[in-house]
Amino acid sequence: MQSFHLALIPGDGVGQETVPAAVRVLNHVASLSNQVQFSYQTFDWSCQRYVKEGAMMPTDGLDRLRDFDAIILGAVGYPTVPDHVSLWGLLLPIRRTFDQYVNLRPVKLLPGVTSPLRAYETGDIDFVVVRENTEGEYSNMGGRLRIGTPEEVVVQNSIFTRYGTERVMRYAFELARQSRQYLTSATKSNGINYSMPFWDDVFREIGKEYPEIRQDSNHIDALAAYFVTRPESFDVVVASNLFGDILTDLGAAIQGSIGIGPSANINPEKKYPSMFEPIHGSAPDIAGQGVANPIGQIWAGKLMLDHLGLTTLGTLVLQAIESTLIEGIKTRDLGGNDTTETVTDAILRNLTALAGS
Ligand code: IPM
Ligand code: MN
Repeated sequence: MQSFHLALIPGDGVGQETVPAAVRVLNHVASLSNQVQFSYQTFDWSCQRYVKEGAMMPTDGLDRLRDFDAIILGAVGYPTVPDHVSLWGLLLPIRRTFDQYVNLRPVKLLPGVTSPLRAYETGDIDFVVVRENTEGEYSNMGGRLRIGTPEEVVVQNSIFTRYGTERVMRYAFELARQSRQYLTSATKSNGINYSMPFWDDVFREIGKEYPEIRQDSNHIDALAAYFVTRPESFDVVVASNLFGDILTDLGAAIQGSIGIGPSANINPEKKYPSMFEPIHGSAPDIAGQGVANPIGQIWAGKLMLDHLGLTTLGTLVLQAIESTLIEGIKTRDLGGNDTTETVTDAILRNLTALAGS
Protein backbone atom coordinates (compact mmCIF):
# COMPACT_ATOMS: atom_id res chain seq x y z
CA MET A 1 0.00 0.00 0.00
CA GLN A 2 1.40 3.39 -1.03
CA SER A 3 0.62 6.28 1.31
CA PHE A 4 0.62 9.97 0.55
CA HIS A 5 0.33 12.77 3.04
CA LEU A 6 -1.50 15.77 1.62
CA ALA A 7 -1.77 19.34 2.87
CA LEU A 8 -5.21 20.89 2.36
CA ILE A 9 -5.55 24.65 2.17
CA PRO A 10 -9.21 25.33 1.28
CA GLY A 11 -8.56 29.07 1.64
CA ASP A 12 -11.38 31.46 0.87
CA GLY A 13 -14.86 31.48 -0.59
CA VAL A 14 -15.80 28.49 -2.71
CA GLY A 15 -12.46 26.83 -1.89
CA GLN A 16 -14.17 25.74 1.34
CA GLU A 17 -16.65 23.78 -0.77
CA THR A 18 -14.53 22.51 -3.64
CA VAL A 19 -11.63 21.11 -1.60
CA PRO A 20 -13.89 18.75 0.42
CA ALA A 21 -15.40 17.61 -2.91
CA ALA A 22 -11.94 16.76 -4.28
CA VAL A 23 -11.07 14.92 -1.07
CA ARG A 24 -14.18 12.76 -1.43
CA VAL A 25 -13.10 11.86 -4.96
CA LEU A 26 -9.52 11.09 -3.92
CA ASN A 27 -10.67 8.87 -1.07
CA HIS A 28 -13.03 7.08 -3.38
CA VAL A 29 -10.46 6.30 -6.08
CA ALA A 30 -8.04 5.23 -3.37
CA SER A 31 -10.56 2.77 -1.93
CA LEU A 32 -11.40 1.44 -5.39
CA SER A 33 -7.73 0.89 -6.18
CA ASN A 34 -6.83 -0.82 -2.92
CA GLN A 35 -3.24 0.20 -3.56
CA VAL A 36 -3.00 3.69 -2.26
CA GLN A 37 -4.15 5.70 0.70
CA PHE A 38 -4.20 9.39 1.43
CA SER A 39 -3.92 11.15 4.75
CA TYR A 40 -4.60 14.82 5.17
CA GLN A 41 -3.83 17.80 7.30
CA THR A 42 -6.00 20.89 6.88
CA PHE A 43 -4.66 24.42 7.30
CA ASP A 44 -7.00 27.34 7.91
CA TRP A 45 -4.75 29.82 6.10
CA SER A 46 -6.99 32.36 4.44
CA CYS A 47 -8.18 35.95 4.37
CA GLN A 48 -10.29 35.15 7.42
CA ARG A 49 -7.11 34.26 9.26
CA TYR A 50 -5.53 37.48 7.99
CA VAL A 51 -8.37 39.54 9.41
CA LYS A 52 -8.11 37.80 12.79
CA GLU A 53 -4.36 37.38 13.12
CA GLY A 54 -2.78 39.81 10.68
CA ALA A 55 -1.19 37.18 8.43
CA MET A 56 -2.44 34.75 5.82
CA MET A 57 -0.29 31.97 7.28
CA PRO A 58 2.01 31.60 10.29
CA THR A 59 5.64 32.71 9.93
CA ASP A 60 6.79 29.09 9.73
CA GLY A 61 3.95 28.19 7.35
CA LEU A 62 6.17 27.26 4.42
CA ASP A 63 8.33 25.03 6.61
CA ARG A 64 5.22 23.22 7.77
CA LEU A 65 4.28 22.41 4.19
CA ARG A 66 7.70 21.27 3.06
CA ASP A 67 7.41 17.57 3.88
CA PHE A 68 4.00 16.89 2.42
CA ASP A 69 3.73 14.83 -0.76
CA ALA A 70 1.48 17.47 -2.32
CA ILE A 71 -0.60 20.52 -1.49
CA ILE A 72 -4.24 20.95 -2.49
CA LEU A 73 -5.31 24.57 -2.55
CA GLY A 74 -8.86 25.87 -2.99
CA ALA A 75 -8.82 29.59 -3.66
CA VAL A 76 -7.33 32.69 -2.15
CA GLY A 77 -8.86 36.15 -2.01
CA TYR A 78 -11.73 37.92 -0.35
CA PRO A 79 -13.12 41.44 -0.69
CA THR A 80 -12.03 42.39 2.84
CA VAL A 81 -8.32 41.98 2.06
CA PRO A 82 -6.49 43.63 -0.86
CA ASP A 83 -5.65 40.98 -3.45
CA HIS A 84 -1.94 41.70 -3.61
CA VAL A 85 -1.77 41.26 0.18
CA SER A 86 -3.62 37.93 0.25
CA LEU A 87 -1.86 36.48 -2.78
CA TRP A 88 1.64 37.55 -1.82
CA GLY A 89 0.88 36.25 1.67
CA LEU A 90 0.02 32.71 0.64
CA LEU A 91 -0.30 31.43 -2.93
CA LEU A 92 2.66 33.16 -4.55
CA PRO A 93 5.20 32.40 -1.78
CA ILE A 94 4.24 28.71 -2.00
CA ARG A 95 4.79 28.66 -5.76
CA ARG A 96 8.13 30.41 -5.44
CA THR A 97 9.58 28.86 -2.29
CA PHE A 98 8.84 25.37 -3.52
CA ASP A 99 10.21 26.20 -6.95
CA GLN A 100 6.99 25.15 -8.66
CA TYR A 101 8.29 26.59 -11.88
CA VAL A 102 5.88 24.82 -14.18
CA ASN A 103 2.24 25.77 -14.07
CA LEU A 104 0.48 23.20 -16.17
CA ARG A 105 -2.98 24.12 -17.39
CA PRO A 106 -4.84 21.78 -19.76
CA VAL A 107 -7.50 23.30 -21.98
CA LYS A 108 -9.90 20.66 -23.17
CA LEU A 109 -13.46 20.78 -24.37
CA LEU A 110 -15.10 17.95 -22.44
CA PRO A 111 -18.13 15.97 -23.61
CA GLY A 112 -21.45 17.40 -22.52
CA VAL A 113 -20.02 20.90 -22.30
CA THR A 114 -20.86 23.67 -24.76
CA SER A 115 -18.05 25.98 -25.72
CA PRO A 116 -18.95 29.63 -26.34
CA LEU A 117 -17.13 29.04 -29.63
CA ARG A 118 -20.08 27.61 -31.48
CA ALA A 119 -18.11 25.81 -34.21
CA TYR A 120 -16.39 23.52 -31.70
CA GLU A 121 -17.41 20.19 -30.28
CA THR A 122 -16.01 17.67 -27.82
CA GLY A 123 -12.43 16.79 -28.59
CA ASP A 124 -11.87 19.69 -30.98
CA ILE A 125 -10.08 21.73 -28.34
CA ASP A 126 -7.33 19.86 -26.53
CA PHE A 127 -4.08 21.55 -25.65
CA VAL A 128 -2.03 22.47 -22.64
CA VAL A 129 -0.45 25.71 -21.52
CA VAL A 130 2.90 25.56 -19.73
CA ARG A 131 3.13 28.76 -17.75
CA GLU A 132 6.40 29.86 -16.17
CA ASN A 133 5.46 30.17 -12.52
CA THR A 134 8.30 31.64 -10.49
CA GLU A 135 9.65 34.72 -12.26
CA GLY A 136 8.82 36.94 -15.25
CA GLU A 137 6.35 39.75 -14.77
CA TYR A 138 5.38 38.55 -11.27
CA SER A 139 8.26 39.99 -9.29
CA ASN A 140 8.23 41.81 -6.04
CA MET A 141 11.03 44.04 -7.22
CA GLY A 142 10.15 47.65 -7.73
CA GLY A 143 8.64 50.43 -5.75
CA ARG A 144 6.38 53.46 -5.48
CA LEU A 145 7.74 56.90 -4.87
CA ARG A 146 5.87 60.09 -3.88
CA ILE A 147 2.71 58.03 -3.41
CA GLY A 148 -0.52 59.77 -4.24
CA THR A 149 1.11 62.93 -5.56
CA PRO A 150 1.03 64.14 -9.18
CA GLU A 151 4.76 63.32 -9.25
CA GLU A 152 4.21 59.69 -8.31
CA VAL A 153 6.67 57.26 -9.90
CA VAL A 154 6.11 53.50 -10.01
CA VAL A 155 8.51 50.81 -11.14
CA GLN A 156 7.76 47.08 -11.38
CA ASN A 157 10.59 45.02 -12.75
CA SER A 158 10.26 41.83 -14.75
CA ILE A 159 12.84 39.17 -14.05
CA PHE A 160 13.85 36.68 -16.71
CA THR A 161 16.78 34.40 -15.93
CA ARG A 162 18.45 32.12 -18.44
CA TYR A 163 18.17 29.22 -16.00
CA GLY A 164 14.48 29.87 -15.37
CA THR A 165 13.62 30.33 -19.02
CA GLU A 166 15.59 27.34 -20.29
CA ARG A 167 14.08 24.92 -17.82
CA VAL A 168 10.47 25.84 -18.52
CA MET A 169 11.07 25.71 -22.28
CA ARG A 170 12.70 22.32 -21.96
CA TYR A 171 9.74 21.04 -19.94
CA ALA A 172 7.36 22.29 -22.64
CA PHE A 173 9.40 20.68 -25.43
CA GLU A 174 9.42 17.37 -23.57
CA LEU A 175 5.66 17.58 -23.14
CA ALA A 176 5.20 18.30 -26.84
CA ARG A 177 7.41 15.32 -27.62
CA GLN A 178 4.96 13.07 -25.73
CA SER A 179 2.02 14.79 -27.34
CA ARG A 180 1.39 15.96 -30.92
CA GLN A 181 4.90 17.32 -31.55
CA TYR A 182 3.94 20.97 -31.71
CA LEU A 183 5.05 23.78 -29.41
CA THR A 184 3.94 27.40 -29.59
CA SER A 185 5.77 30.12 -27.69
CA ALA A 186 3.91 33.21 -26.47
CA THR A 187 6.05 36.28 -27.02
CA LYS A 188 5.79 40.03 -27.39
CA SER A 189 9.21 40.82 -28.75
CA ASN A 190 7.87 43.52 -31.02
CA GLY A 191 6.91 45.78 -28.13
CA ILE A 192 8.92 44.51 -25.14
CA ASN A 193 12.46 44.90 -26.32
CA TYR A 194 14.71 43.15 -23.79
CA SER A 195 12.96 40.32 -22.02
CA MET A 196 10.94 39.03 -24.94
CA PRO A 197 13.74 38.95 -27.56
CA PHE A 198 15.67 37.03 -24.88
CA TRP A 199 12.69 34.68 -24.43
CA ASP A 200 12.66 34.12 -28.22
CA ASP A 201 16.41 33.45 -28.28
CA VAL A 202 16.08 30.78 -25.61
CA PHE A 203 13.10 29.25 -27.39
CA ARG A 204 15.16 28.98 -30.58
CA GLU A 205 18.23 27.65 -28.76
CA ILE A 206 16.39 24.96 -26.83
CA GLY A 207 14.35 24.24 -29.94
CA LYS A 208 17.51 23.06 -31.70
CA GLU A 209 17.58 20.13 -29.27
CA TYR A 210 14.12 19.14 -30.52
CA PRO A 211 14.31 19.25 -34.34
CA GLU A 212 11.38 16.81 -34.65
CA ILE A 213 9.01 19.23 -32.91
CA ARG A 214 7.19 21.83 -34.95
CA GLN A 215 7.90 25.23 -33.38
CA ASP A 216 6.02 28.49 -33.68
CA SER A 217 6.33 31.78 -31.92
CA ASN A 218 3.30 34.08 -31.76
CA HIS A 219 2.91 37.51 -30.24
CA ILE A 220 0.60 37.32 -27.27
CA ASP A 221 -2.04 39.59 -28.80
CA ALA A 222 -2.32 37.52 -31.96
CA LEU A 223 -2.14 34.31 -29.93
CA ALA A 224 -5.11 35.42 -27.83
CA ALA A 225 -7.08 35.86 -31.05
CA TYR A 226 -5.96 32.43 -32.31
CA PHE A 227 -7.23 30.84 -29.10
CA VAL A 228 -10.65 31.99 -30.26
CA THR A 229 -10.34 31.57 -34.04
CA ARG A 230 -8.39 28.31 -34.27
CA PRO A 231 -8.01 26.67 -30.84
CA GLU A 232 -7.88 23.24 -32.51
CA SER A 233 -4.44 24.05 -33.90
CA PHE A 234 -2.61 24.08 -30.55
CA ASP A 235 -0.83 21.26 -28.79
CA VAL A 236 1.51 22.73 -26.16
CA VAL A 237 1.87 26.45 -25.55
CA VAL A 238 4.71 27.87 -23.44
CA ALA A 239 4.31 31.30 -21.89
CA SER A 240 5.81 33.64 -19.34
CA ASN A 241 4.08 34.07 -16.00
CA LEU A 242 1.68 36.90 -16.86
CA PHE A 243 1.05 35.87 -20.44
CA GLY A 244 0.31 32.33 -19.28
CA ASP A 245 -2.03 33.65 -16.62
CA ILE A 246 -4.09 35.63 -19.09
CA LEU A 247 -4.09 32.93 -21.75
CA THR A 248 -5.36 30.30 -19.33
CA ASP A 249 -8.40 32.28 -18.22
CA LEU A 250 -9.16 32.58 -21.92
CA GLY A 251 -8.49 28.85 -22.22
CA ALA A 252 -10.89 28.12 -19.37
CA ALA A 253 -13.52 30.30 -21.03
CA ILE A 254 -13.30 28.50 -24.38
CA GLN A 255 -13.50 25.13 -22.65
CA GLY A 256 -16.94 26.12 -21.44
CA SER A 257 -16.51 27.53 -17.94
CA ILE A 258 -13.86 28.94 -15.69
CA GLY A 259 -15.26 26.51 -13.10
CA ILE A 260 -13.73 23.52 -14.92
CA GLY A 261 -10.10 24.45 -15.54
CA PRO A 262 -7.39 22.83 -13.40
CA SER A 263 -3.94 24.09 -12.57
CA ALA A 264 -0.88 22.14 -11.41
CA ASN A 265 1.99 24.08 -9.87
CA ILE A 266 4.79 21.60 -10.37
CA ASN A 267 8.30 21.22 -9.11
CA PRO A 268 9.31 18.61 -11.70
CA GLU A 269 12.37 17.48 -9.75
CA LYS A 270 10.11 16.64 -6.76
CA LYS A 271 12.53 18.35 -4.45
CA TYR A 272 9.54 20.19 -2.97
CA PRO A 273 5.83 19.43 -2.85
CA SER A 274 3.78 20.50 -5.86
CA MET A 275 0.45 22.27 -5.48
CA PHE A 276 -2.85 21.59 -7.21
CA GLU A 277 -5.68 24.09 -7.49
CA PRO A 278 -8.51 25.10 -9.79
CA ILE A 279 -7.93 28.04 -12.15
CA HIS A 280 -10.93 29.90 -10.76
CA GLY A 281 -10.81 32.17 -7.75
CA SER A 282 -12.77 32.30 -4.50
CA ALA A 283 -15.99 33.51 -6.19
CA PRO A 284 -17.37 35.36 -3.12
CA ASP A 285 -20.62 36.04 -4.99
CA ILE A 286 -21.65 32.38 -4.87
CA ALA A 287 -19.65 31.18 -1.86
CA GLY A 288 -21.52 29.35 0.90
CA GLN A 289 -24.46 28.37 -1.30
CA GLY A 290 -23.24 24.91 -2.25
CA VAL A 291 -23.49 25.65 -5.95
CA ALA A 292 -19.82 26.02 -6.92
CA ASN A 293 -18.58 23.78 -9.70
CA PRO A 294 -16.25 21.23 -8.08
CA ILE A 295 -14.81 20.03 -11.41
CA GLY A 296 -11.86 22.45 -11.60
CA GLN A 297 -10.73 21.25 -8.18
CA ILE A 298 -11.40 17.58 -8.93
CA TRP A 299 -9.59 17.76 -12.26
CA ALA A 300 -6.67 19.38 -10.39
CA GLY A 301 -6.80 16.28 -8.16
CA LYS A 302 -6.40 14.18 -11.31
CA LEU A 303 -3.28 16.19 -12.19
CA MET A 304 -1.98 15.46 -8.68
CA LEU A 305 -2.57 11.73 -9.16
CA ASP A 306 -0.61 11.90 -12.42
CA HIS A 307 2.20 13.79 -10.72
CA LEU A 308 2.37 11.20 -7.92
CA GLY A 309 2.74 8.47 -10.53
CA LEU A 310 -0.86 7.22 -10.13
CA THR A 311 -1.77 7.84 -13.74
CA THR A 312 -4.29 4.99 -14.00
CA LEU A 313 -6.27 6.59 -11.19
CA GLY A 314 -5.84 10.03 -12.75
CA THR A 315 -7.30 8.79 -16.02
CA LEU A 316 -10.21 7.23 -14.14
CA VAL A 317 -11.04 10.54 -12.46
CA LEU A 318 -11.17 12.42 -15.75
CA GLN A 319 -13.35 9.69 -17.25
CA ALA A 320 -15.74 9.94 -14.29
CA ILE A 321 -15.93 13.72 -14.76
CA GLU A 322 -16.72 13.17 -18.44
CA SER A 323 -19.40 10.56 -17.74
CA THR A 324 -21.03 12.92 -15.27
CA LEU A 325 -21.10 15.76 -17.78
CA ILE A 326 -22.50 13.46 -20.47
CA GLU A 327 -25.34 12.61 -18.07
CA GLY A 328 -26.09 16.33 -17.94
CA ILE A 329 -25.30 16.66 -14.25
CA LYS A 330 -23.98 20.21 -14.10
CA THR A 331 -23.71 23.24 -11.90
CA ARG A 332 -25.14 26.63 -12.85
CA ASP A 333 -22.02 27.90 -14.61
CA LEU A 334 -22.55 25.10 -17.16
CA GLY A 335 -26.24 25.79 -17.53
CA GLY A 336 -27.40 23.13 -15.05
CA ASN A 337 -29.16 23.19 -11.68
CA ASP A 338 -27.05 20.73 -9.76
CA THR A 339 -25.14 21.47 -6.59
CA THR A 340 -21.52 20.93 -5.67
CA GLU A 341 -22.64 17.89 -3.73
CA THR A 342 -24.81 16.26 -6.39
CA VAL A 343 -22.10 16.70 -9.03
CA THR A 344 -19.56 15.14 -6.66
CA ASP A 345 -21.97 12.29 -5.81
CA ALA A 346 -22.35 11.57 -9.52
CA ILE A 347 -18.59 11.56 -10.04
CA LEU A 348 -18.20 9.02 -7.21
CA ARG A 349 -20.92 6.86 -8.70
CA ASN A 350 -19.28 7.01 -12.13
CA LEU A 351 -15.91 6.14 -10.62
CA THR A 352 -17.42 3.00 -9.13
CA ALA A 353 -19.06 2.10 -12.43
CA LEU A 354 -15.87 2.71 -14.45
CA ALA A 355 -13.71 0.76 -12.02
CA GLY A 356 -16.06 -2.23 -12.29
CA SER A 357 -16.18 -2.23 -16.07
C1 IPM B 1 -3.95 32.21 -11.12
C2 IPM B 1 -4.37 33.43 -10.38
C3 IPM B 1 -3.18 34.01 -9.64
C4 IPM B 1 -2.12 34.31 -10.66
C5 IPM B 1 -3.51 35.26 -8.85
C6 IPM B 1 -4.64 35.03 -7.90
C7 IPM B 1 -2.30 35.85 -8.19
O1 IPM B 1 -4.93 34.35 -11.24
O2 IPM B 1 -3.51 31.25 -10.47
O3 IPM B 1 -4.05 32.19 -12.34
O4 IPM B 1 -2.19 35.34 -11.34
O5 IPM B 1 -1.19 33.53 -10.77
MN1 MN C 1 -5.18 33.61 -13.28
